[in-house]
Formats: sequence, structure tokens, C-alpha cells
Amino acid sequence: MGGPSRRGLLIAGGALGAAGALGVSPFAQARPAWTWSSRDSVAGSGGGTDPQWVWDEEVDALLASVVRRGDVPRVNRALRSWTRNDQPTPGDLPADVRDFVERARRLPGWADQGRLDAAARFNVTRGFYLNLLNGVGGGMLSTAIPREARAVYYSKGGADMEDRVAKTSRLGFAVGDLDAYRPSGSIVVEAVKTRLVHAAVRHLLPQSPGWAETSGGQRIPISQADVLVTWHTLPTYAMRTMLEWRVPITAAESAAYLHVWQVTAHLLGVPDEYLPASWDAAHAQSRQLLDPVLGPTAEGVHLTDVLLGQLAEQTSPGSVGRPLVDALARYLVGDRIADWNGIARQPLWETTLASAWPKLVAFRENLLPLPLVPPVAWTIDEALRRYIMFYLTKGRETHIEIPETNRPS
Ligand code: HEM
Repeated sequence: MGGPSRRGLLIAGGALGAAGALGVSPFAQARPAWTWSSRDSVAGSGGGTDPQWVWDEEVDALLASVVRRGDVPRVNRALRSWTRNDQPTPGDLPADVRDFVERARRLPGWADQGRLDAAARFNVTRGFYLNLLNGVGGGMLSTAIPREARAVYYSKGGADMEDRVAKTSRLGFAVGDLDAYRPSGSIVVEAVKTRLVHAAVRHLLPQSPGWAETSGGQRIPISQADVLVTWHTLPTYAMRTMLEWRVPITAAESAAYLHVWQVTAHLLGVPDEYLPASWDAAHAQSRQLLDPVLGPTAEGVHLTDVLLGQLAEQTSPGSVGRPLVDALARYLVGDRIADWNGIARQPLWETTLASAWPKLVAFRENLLPLPLVPPVAWTIDEALRRYIMFYLTKGRETHIEIPETNRPS
């Protein structure tokens, strides 16, 4: 398959037409000037360069060399045995990769183990919401980010979304684990591996005709601005939505949750001068970076369809599956993004969810007695549990690996 499906093209074309008719700038190109101040960052200062023009120089050059000299299988083989934070960097890695990993795996000086532990407890107690928001909600937002949808679609993993989601879940579950930043955890490993993967993609994707034709003039994918955009679909979106759902969160939990994602972004290669130091700074950056770039693409419609189809199959096979999953995805990201992603309307389930979900949340937070929870809430609850279990299991069986090619067309 060389390009996205005809259905995707039609839906995205329709949505683009509607956006144009309303005088709304379609997407991506309409990036506002970078005015977010590095004074609001973890570093507290910085050069002020627009992160749209910043990539990850050292590792990008390194991975370009690894791909060119045919070392990707060797590096992947060596990295397979590296699974725990406390394990030494594999000795059989080529010396240049090993040197880089040795440096890249170090936690920043500002990382605070107490707050990382508090975040781990929060991630576990709030795992139900976080898995849903990061997995399904974040997934639906990322397919509505044209640059990300296209990068994913035209890269190697785009051809096998089940495997890709499983690989991505590895990082999601590693960050949410009780041991995340403890010696027996694995987030340091998965984040550094992801940094290597992104660097390889920066070398490979410009060689993909499908990507080059649709990149809107971007020459190298996954700029630091793009990484931050995706970052906001994870912690920033999750925190905002949990607060909207009235999930009780203490100030210490909120600060710890931000901290674990600051450290993770640092390990993914984001310079500290771009990392928001507070939630206010994060929301301000998200408004500047994420909101203006959301929009419809044929690739995003296609990927959404594949993702929701898989979710329906895994969570509640049978006739209830897809309508429930469609309504849930719409509930999580709202009508505008759901329409851009081509998610079908499911009026019955949408009404049911809008009424049952707040009650399910209230019950889980001991704010509502059991008899007041409608039985349908348990169908939703069960579907989500299955979803989490499925990807948890799949994620454990797979490894994050550096691609050596783009999507085969
Ligand atoms: C790969 C996470 C930002 C595009 C991966 C992987 C993870 C990940 C865990 C490895 C799994 C896999 O190989 O499929 C993240 C996180 C991000 C982020 C946490 C930000 C906080 C981005 C952005 C783009 C992007 C902004 C594009 C605009 C890709 C691509 C792959 C990848 C194309 C490779 C898939 C392949 O092997 O073909 N990412 N990512 N990522 N990511 Fe990201």
C-alpha cells in the first residue's frame, strides 16, 4: 500500500474544506512565533532559539552513521539485552554508540528521587485514568497532529500498527511503573532507546517519497518543537483532563507527575531550556505549540481507523466493540478532533458515556455509592481493563528497536 486509503483522503479532504470555508487556517503551516520564555523552563534560561529549528545534533549524526555503515542489526542485537536501569551499557555495542548511551542514560542533576518516587505512586494509583488518557486519548491527539501522523505512517512501524502501539506502550508502561526510576525499573533504558530511534527516523524519513511530498516543507522530521507537541498530548493533556473529571490530586502529586515527565523528556533528548518548570508554563507552551498544529490528514484518518479497530477487537469483541470505542475516543478528545480523525458518530453510546463516565470516576474516587453507578459503566470499565492488559502483555513481548528502513510501499 503506497498511500493512505481513499476513505481517509475523502474525510480529511472534507474536513480541510470545512476548515477553509470557515476561514480557519488548515494546519501545521500556521505556526505562531516562538515567544515562550526559557525563564519558565527547568533550566531557567536559554538561547531562545525556536525549537522548530532544533533537532538532536550529536545523536542524529551518530545514527546516520550507524544506518549508513549497516550497523543497525548489530546495535539492535546488543540493545536487546539492556532492559533494566541498573544494567551496564551493553559492551558489544559499537564504541561510538556505547559512548553516547553512557552519557545519555545519566539523570540530570536536577532529578529528585523523592519526587520520582511520589510520581511512581501517583502513576500506579491513577493508572486507570493515565493509561486511558495516554494510550487512547494521547493516541487520538497524535493522529490529529499532521507531522506526527505522517512520520508514523511513512516510517517502518506505520505498516504494522499493532506492533508499533505495543512498542510505544513499552515506554508508557515503563514511565508508569512503580519502579520507573528505581534500579529495577526500565524507563531510562526505554527513553534512551527511543532517542536513538528518533535519530534514525530523522535520517531515514527524508528518503521516503511519501513523507517528502507531504511534509509541508519540513526537511528533517521530529524537531524539538515536534517532540514538545507530542509531550503535551501526554502529561499536559492527561493532567488537564483529570482535573476536568474532578479526580482529586494533591499539589505534591501534581508536582511529582510533572517532574517524572520533565526527567523523561530530558532523557528523550529535549534540552532543559524547553522543559516547562511548572504546569502554568506547560499549559502556556501547549497553547502555543500544540493547539495551532492540530488538523486533519488522510494519514491520520487511516491510522485512527486502524487503532480504533484494534482497540475494539481487543476490548469488547462483538457488536458493542467499535461503537463503544468510537464514542469513547470522541469523549476523550472532543468533537473537533474526532471529526478530523474521521471517527464515526455513535449517538447512543455518546449519550450513554457522557452520563456514565462522570459517575464511574466519582465511584472510583469514593465520591458516589455503588447503587448510583449505572451498570453500563462496568462494560466501559471492563473494556478498559482488557485494553490495558492487552498492551501490557504485548509491550512486554516486544522491544524498542532502531528501524533501518522506511515503510515498505
Ligand atoms: C518511535 C515515543 C515524539 C515519530 C517511538 C518509540 C517510542 C516513541 C516509545 C519507539 C516505538 C517504536 O519504535 O514504534 C515518543 C515520545 C515522544 C515522541 C514519548 C514525545 C514525547 C515523536 C514525534 C514524532 C515521532 C514528535 C514525529 C513527528 C516517531 C517515529 C517512530 C517513533 C516515526 C519510529 C517508528 C518506526 O520504527 O518506524 N516514539 N515519540 N515521535 N516515533 Fe516517537
